[in-house]
Order: sequence, then C-alpha cells, then structure tokens
Amino acid sequence: MIKTTKAQACSNIALIKYWGKRDAALNLPQNGSLSLTLDGMITTTTVHWDPGYAEDEVSLNGKLLADSELTKMSQFLDLVRKQAGFTLKAKVESQNNFPTAAGLASSASGFAALALASSRAAGLDLDPQALSILARQGSGSASRSIFGGFAQWKKGELADGSDSYAEQVLPPDAWPDVRMLVVVLEPRPKPISSRSGMTQTVATSPMYPAWLETVGADLDTARKALDGRDLEALGTVAEANALKMHATMLTTLPTILYWQPTTVALMHQVWELRRDGVPGWFTIDAGPNVKVLTDATNAPKLADALGAVEGVERVLICAPGDGATIC
Ligand code: PMV
Repeated sequence: MIKTTKAQACSNIALIKYWGKRDAALNLPQNGSLSLTLDGMITTTTVHWDPGYAEDEVSLNGKLLADSELTKMSQFLDLVRKQAGFTLKAKVESQNNFPTAAGLASSASGFAALALASSRAAGLDLDPQALSILARQGSGSASRSIFGGFAQWKKGELADGSDSYAEQVLPPDAWPDVRMLVVVLEPRPKPISSRSGMTQTVATSPMYPAWLETVGADLDTARKALDGRDLEALGTVAEANALKMHATMLTTLPTILYWQPTTVALMHQVWELRRDGVPGWFTIDAGPNVKVLTDATNAPKLADALGAVEGVERVLICAPGDGATIC
C-alpha cells in the first residue's frame, strides 16, 4: 500500500571518525566509527509516492533541489524503488530545525529521515539494520543516525555492504548527562566535500596507513570509556582521533585544511578551560566548526566562553538524541 509518511532523525557527531571509503558507490568505509546522536539537530522529512508524478520533486527547507543535488536524491530513491519493486516517483519535503546555511552537516539526519520515510511510504517495513544499510548509501554517517544515543558503524568485510551497518551501543537515557556543544563559525566559502576529501586522503596521504592501523584501538578505548561512563577517557580518545584524522588530510597532495583561524582559537580555548578544571574535549569534522564533548553541569559555562571567541556565530548545546522515528 502506497501512502504518505513523515519521519524525523537527529544528526550525529562522530567521536571516532569515518574517514576513507573502500567502495565509493556503496559508501563502504575503510574503518569503523562511533558517534553520539544529538537531540538539537533534527531533520523532518515527508515522502509521498504517486503514480501522477512524472519526476521526483525534492525540497529542503522550502527550496526545490535541482541538478546534481536532485540527481543524488533520485539515485537514493532508486534504491527504495528497487526494493519496493515499483517505478513510482516521489515528492519529498525536508526541513531542518537547525541552520543549514551555517555549514552544519545535515546529510546524516537528512538521509536517515529520508530512508525511514521513503521506505515506509513505499510499504516496506525495514528493520533498523536494513534501514542503516539504506541510509548509509545516501551518506555514510547517516547509517549511525538511525539510532539514538551512542552508535557504532561496523566497517564490514563483504563486497555488497550487507555487513556494514550501525548498531546502538548506549541508548540516550543510559548516559543522559553527556552534552555536545556545536560551535558554529561565521559563514565561509564551502570547503571541499567529505567525499572528495576522503578520496584524496586515501590516494595520497602517507599518514593514511597509520590511521587505519590505529583506529581499531581508538574504537576499543572509546567502547571501554562508554562502558565505564568515563567522560575524560572518552573525550581524550575522541580529541586525539579527530586530530589524527586531520593529520591525514594535512598530508594529502594538495593539502586539505578545514580549519579557520577561529577553529584554532577554539581549540586553544578548550585546552585553556580544561587546564582551569572545566572538562571539555573537541572534535572537528570536514569543516571549520568545532564540537565539544562535556557534561550538563559544565555545558553553559563552556558555551559562554566559546561563544565569546571572535568569529563564532552561535553555540548549540545538545543532549543525546533519539533514533529515527515515524511522526
Ligand atoms: O558520510 P559523510 O559524507 O557525512 O562523511 C562524514 C565524515 C566525517 O564527518 C568527517 C566523519 C564522521 O564519521 O562523521
């Protein structure tokens, strides 16, 4: 039965990063990763399949997508069409409750919400593992946003990607005291996409083999920290892992540097606050914004201090968020 379905999903920030693909078409990673889903960054998506549509129509925050952005969405919808066994076109309306223009990645929440809404509207009832595999093919990080709290995306070994999906490690209420600050910088020209950045790193960075050799140990350390609800241990390995990922990018040809002067100022500020006894550990993705892991008690203090750094536009304080749901 074909119907309209609305779903929502929260974004996630990796504490142990995914960097590098072993299969670009299927978004299969070279390494496993681990993330925290964030309650403050939500995408809500409505999908309607209809025999009356001649083409897919996709809007994001009220703006119709065209050209390569629309093609990417249609290719994703093709995966659902294939599983559902029909050729209907869809109308997709997607809204972020956070500022997309501020350079905050919305692909994780976006493809997780789209995977759930489009498959359910097509009459498919995919389990979380199958949903994670579907979302992964839109954007690797989206595989983790199917789950609330902390999630781990297994690298998998198979060529078809059927063993490369995320699983929940801790539900949101298992460690409710954790907070992630999302420090948004003033807008700058769009940096190189994570897809291109990864391809270039795998092809040219002499540091990339060292990344692959050590990321498994980082995952083990993070998992132990989660078991023990040890924020310092988790923050320490997350910060080191992010810096190591950026070291692989810095050593590509040509070099990739996502940081702006404000990014570096924020890193120093986090270290200074930590020396003064305020617990906070940063992580940085494929862009200049900085995310800081802390707890509920210290989040407002950190947000004030980091919000005062020149070049910062806003600071969002996020708690562990829920997995993708029908709404
Ligand atoms: O899956 P993508 O294209 O959103 O790439 C994500 C890459 C990083 O954000 C840098 C790391 C990660 O694991 O989310």
